[in-house]
Amino acid sequence: MSKSNKTSKNFWLSLRKPILALAPMAGITDPGFCTICRKNGADVVYTEMISADGLHHDSKKTLEMLKILPREKPVIVQLFGKNPEKFVRATKIVTKLGFSGIDINFGCPAKKVAGHGGGATLMRDLNLCYDIIKSVCDNTDLPVSIKVRTSIKSESIKNKNLNTKTKKKIITSLDLIKKIKDLRVSAIMIHGRSYEQGFNGEIDYNYIKNIKKYFKGIILANGNIYTPEKAKETIQKTKVQGLGIARGVYGKPWIFQQIKDYLEKGKYKEKSWTQIKKIALEHAKLNYKVKNNYGLIEMRKHLLFYTKTQKNAKEMRRELVSVKTIKDIEKIFKKY
Ligand SMILES: Cc1cc2nc3c(=O)[nH]c(=O)nc-3n(C[C@H](O)[C@H](O)[C@H](O)COP(=O)(O)O)c2cc1C
Repeated sequence: MSKSNKTSKNFWLSLRKPILALAPMAGITDPGFCTICRKNGADVVYTEMISADGLHHDSKKTLEMLKILPREKPVIVQLFGKNPEKFVRATKIVTKLGFSGIDINFGCPAKKVAGHGGGATLMRDLNLCYDIIKSVCDNTDLPVSIKVRTSIKSESIKNKNLNTKTKKKIITSLDLIKKIKDLRVSAIMIHGRSYEQGFNGEIDYNYIKNIKKYFKGIILANGNIYTPEKAKETIQKTKVQGLGIARGVYGKPWIFQQIKDYLEKGKYKEKSWTQIKKIALEHAKLNYKVKNNYGLIEMRKHLLFYTKTQKNAKEMRRELVSVKTIKDIEKIFKKY
């Protein structure tokens, strides 16, 4: 797994530790938001998951999701799917587009993905996981990373004759890491929850810490990091080289800078409403640049996130949910 460390393209090696990464989030981590996070302290950003099948079949909609803004880099494109052959073409396509790395999704529990045997459920078939990762590694010179959960239970098999079910086995991401030890994987983001936990419940810090014994590349701990204090605690408990931050960035892309300040100086500042409005407007303009009017429709949810610290802002939020133009946003921000 160390081969990629020798390639000149392995940007992971040039990042300062602890590495603060924007974790992939479908519907959230698009080029506009990734840029805003980079400008506010994220060291590396992940795109939302992109369908390898879609790329394999030249889906226009999927290809449109692959735009990159100059200030986003280093940016990792995350692929999902379950068919190694389709990953081959998908890898070749994204390699040419200027991404800094390719990540493979082994953690998504969403029905749309896991329901069809992709995402987290892939871990139930470690040979298939191996083939997918190999397909990617063999077809790119970019660093390859994976995103996993701690574990998943196997499906119980019903024995019709005896009318019994076999006991479910637990398959861990450590099993996967051991399985792929000859493949050149540069980094792993571990969401410290099992598939069965979904998005709630405790993070298994000891599990993440233990992975260090078996994987010598970059490990990013993910899950439940909503404040700089929690970021520090996660690093202290896991002792890994970086963090993946997901829902903690909602309406707060500057959390990355706050974490850096807290780790370096023991304190950090909150943004004023005037500063928040400036960042939100910059974000909206980037969204418009990439996706035109549709970018502003997608911006509406972010606008609501940005206002979450504002008390008694019901009226403003009611107006923000129907913005259609940059001017609309400017007008509302002037009023409040
Ligand atoms: C809205 C949403 C979309 C997500 N989309 C993806 C995705 O595309 N790929 C992926 O690997 N994980 C995805 N995740 C999982 C996050 O990257 C992260 O692992 C999870 O939210 C736990 O981190 P948190 O507790 O900091 O939110 C998504 C999570 C959310 C909330």
